[in-house]
Order: sequence, then structure tokens, then C-alpha cells
Amino acid sequence: MHTDITDETAFKSAMRAQWDRAAPGWNAHTAAIRDWLSRPTEAMCRMAGVTVGSRVLDVAAGAGEQTLAIARLVGPQGHVLATDLSPAIVALARQNFESAGFANVEARVADGEDLGVAGCSFDAAVCRLGLMFFSDPLRGLREMHRALRPGGGACTVVFSRPEKNPCLKILMSTALAHAGLPARDPFEPGGLLSLGQPGRTDELFRSAGFHDVATIALDAVFRLPSVDDYLAFVRSSASPILDILERLEPAAVEAAWAEMRERLDVFTTGEGWAGPNELLLTAGRRPEDRP
Ligand SMILES: C[S@@+](CC[C@H](N)C(=O)[O-])C[C@H]1O[C@@H](n2cnc3c(N)ncnc32)[C@H](O)[C@@H]1O
Repeated sequence: MHTDITDETAFKSAMRAQWDRAAPGWNAHTAAIRDWLSRPTEAMCRMAGVTVGSRVLDVAAGAGEQTLAIARLVGPQGHVLATDLSPAIVALARQNFESAGFANVEARVADGEDLGVAGCSFDAAVCRLGLMFFSDPLRGLREMHRALRPGGGACTVVFSRPEKNPCLKILMSTALAHAGLPARDPFEPGGLLSLGQPGRTDELFRSAGFHDVATIALDAVFRLPSVDDYLAFVRSSASPILDILERLEPAAVEAAWAEMRERLDVFTTGEGWAGPNELLLTAGRRPEDRP
């Protein structure tokens, strides 16, 4: 299924359904995701100005891996609100927060484009690997801007260009070819790489009203023991790829995974599998109110 993004209601309900289905897989891979994204997460928090005692809004928080990292950083005087479109992933985030024993964290189902939070109520806002899935990322950034107090900071993390994310390119192109679908423009709205064009997120941050906007690119190599571990991750949690393969017969699905495995095996090294990825971290600040 490839939902027309101009039908916003249909697009969002398809996105919600995709992530409801992928939620258990994404959650089961929390440890691998933590290892993969720990450096970008630290940088994201620094760039958003998260500090001890901060009230932080975590948009498209998923199962809350980065939410707990933020909760540790802000300490008991701070607070983190994790929000996500998918009720299934929010339920898992809640369980994770409970078992981690954090009292300063809350999870809520909310569309990032219509958060339903009070204006000026957060010191910092972050969104790790979520904004590219929004039907209208500018509206999402305007919501983050509105939620921040004057002077508060935001930082988002998205995938950069296809050439810098060859595994995603391989997964998408192989899945589409096996599904008999035409190649897609990698930057088409709502897709994995939709915000990867240089300068795109800066432009959106500025249009949303942020000042002091800056982007850095960070390498985030996904290191796993073997290519099969990466495939297990993708097969259980990479909702855009699962979505493309959904319509195929089981044998055709297996043929697609076999080709992906073969193509992804080029990243096998002497010390395991190392899949290159590049992320863009964009930060901005809500300007202080003029006296
Ligand atoms: C790749 S996961 C990232 C989850 C988490 N931030 C992390 O890094 O582990 C993408 C998340 O974006 C969420 N998402 C997609 N569209 C959204 C929207 N419009 N509003 C809020 N969340 C959304 C999905 O439900 C999913 O949990």
C-alpha cells in the first residue's frame, strides 16, 4: 500500500497502522537501537539545550529509548513528555518507563502535527527519526515551536541523502522491484529519506519561526554481529519496507528478503556487520519575546 499523502486522514491512519504493527519489533530491538543512536542522541540533547531540571517534549518518541536517556539527563527535578501517533508503541513506552522506575516521565498518544499541549510549556523539544514521516513537517515544527517557552530549543534527527544511507536505498529499491512497483523519488514527502536534501530542515525550522538554526551531519554506523541480525531488525520493525512487501505472496516475500540479504552482505567486515548511515541534526531556538 502506498497512501496518497494529499489525503491526510488516510495517510495518517496508514502510518498509525504501520507503526502499531511494527511497535513490538522496534521495542524488542531497543538495545541495538540504543547502541546505534547513542552518539546522535547525546548530540540531539545538547543541541536542544536539555539540561538538569529541563521540561522536555519528545515528539514521535516510539518505545521511548531516547526518552529514558533524556529522563536520566534532566534528573528528578526535570520532566519528559513522550508523544507518538501509534497507540501500540505508546503502550510499550509506558511499560518501559514503569519498569525503569522513572517518575518524571509520561507517555501520551498525540499526532506531532497537533500535539494538544499547552503553549510555552517546555524548555526543550526533540524528535529522533520521526519528522520525516509527517505529512506536514512544517506543521510539526510549528507545534514544537508553540510548545516551547521563549528561548527554548528544539532539535530533530532525520536521515540524510540516499547515497549516505546505502542500506535504506538497497532495502527500498529491492522491496519496490519485488513488489512490481516503480522506483520512488527518495525525497517524496512522508518517506524515510524525505528530509534528506541538504538545507531542507533548516528551511523548515526557519519557516516555523526558529532562530539560530544550524544543522550538523553525523555518521551513525549500525553495527551488529551479522547481516542476519540487521535483517531480523528490518523484518520486525522497519515499517515502510514491511508496508511495500505486504501485498506479496509468502514465496515472493522470501525472495525479496533473500536479495536484500545478498546486497546488504557487502557491509560484512572482519568484525561483524557495519551498515553506514548519515543523520542530519537540526537545531533552532524560539526567540525571546520582545519587551
Ligand atoms: C523510526 S520510529 C522512531 C521512534 C523513536 N523516536 C526512536 O528513535 O526510537 C518513528 C516513529 O514516528 C512515529 N510517527 C510517525 N508519524 C507521526 C506523527 N505524525 N506524529 C507523531 N508520531 C509519528 C511512529 O509512530 C514511530 O513511533
